[in-house]
Amino acid sequence: MLSFETLSKTYADGTHALSAITIDVAAGEILALVGGSGCGKTTLLRLIAGLDQPSAGRILLDGEAILEPRADVGVIFQEPRLFPWLSVSENVAFGLSHLSAFEREGLVANALVRVGLAGYEKRWPRELSGGQQQRVAIARALITRPKLLLMDEPFSALDATTRASLHGHLLALWAESRPTVVMVTHDVEEAVTLADRIIVMQPKPGRIFDELDNPLARPRDRLSPSFEATKREALRALDRSLRDEEPRQHKTAETAGMWW
Ligand SMILES: Nc1ncnc2c1ncn2[C@@H]1O[C@H](COP(=O)(O)OP(=O)(O)O)[C@@H](O)[C@H]1O
Ligand SMILES: [Mg+2]
Repeated sequence: MLSFETLSKTYADGTHALSAITIDVAAGEILALVGGSGCGKTTLLRLIAGLDQPSAGRILLDGEAILEPRADVGVIFQEPRLFPWLSVSENVAFGLSHLSAFEREGLVANALVRVGLAGYEKRWPRELSGGQQQRVAIARALITRPKLLLMDEPFSALDATTRASLHGHLLALWAESRPTVVMVTHDVEEAVTLADRIIVMQPKPGRIFDELDNPLARPRDRLSPSFEATKREALRALDRSLRDEEPRQHKTAETAGMWW
C-alpha cells in the first residue's frame, strides 16, 4: 500500500538524515517508528506527507509517487495546530467543504462523540486543555477518512491518563475505516499498545536498526504478561540501538571483551 524504496535524504547543509530506507507497509497496518532523537523519524514522516522531497529513492502510495501533500493523507503533529479563529466544530469540519452543511454537522457531531468532546462544538481552541485540543486534531484528521494517517509523537505532550484515553479513541476510530498508520513515538509502551510492527531506527545517518512484529491480538491488555514480554523485547532493541552507534556486525563479543 505504502512503500519506501531506498529512500535517502540529505539536507542542504549536508546532514545525512536518512540513508537507504526500504519498508513496505500493508493496507490497514499500524507501523510505529521509534529511535533516539535525530535518527530521521520526523524527516521520514515529512517526506511521506509530501512536505519535503527525498534526495534519492521513492515513496509510493498505491503505486503512485508522493510529490506533494494529498487530501487522502491525514497528519497529526505533536502540537494540535488548530486554527485559533475557528470553533471546535469548524476546525473538525475543515476538510469537508465539499459536503453540505447538513452532512458536515452530522459527521462533526459523530466525530466529537468519538473523541469524547460532545457538547464542545462552539468552544474556541483557547478554551480547551492541551489534551482536548489534541482530541480535536485527531477528529479533524480522521473525519475525512484518510487512507493513510501520519502521526509525529501526537500524545507525547499529554499526561499518562489522557494519553491512554486517546489511544482508545484512536483505535476505535481506526477500527471504523482501517487507515494505514505510520506513527512516530519515543514511548515503547505506546508503540506496543498501538502498532502491528515496530521499526527501531538509528542516527547518523538515519537508518533501520531492527524490526519487531507485534504478536499481540487486539484489544491489548497492558497488564498481561504477554504485553510485558513484548514491551521488554522492544525496549531491548531500542536500548541496543542507543548503545551501538556502529553497525552491530563490527562489535564482536571478542573485541568487546578486549576492552571491558
Ligand atoms: N531542515 C533541516 N535542515 C538540516 N538538518 C535537518 C533539518 N531537519 C532535520 N535535520 C537534521 O536531520 C537529522 C534527523 O532529524 P529528524 O528527522 O528531526 O530526527 P528525529 O525526528 O528522529 O529526531 C538530525 O540530525 C537533524 O538535526
Ligand atoms: Mg522528531
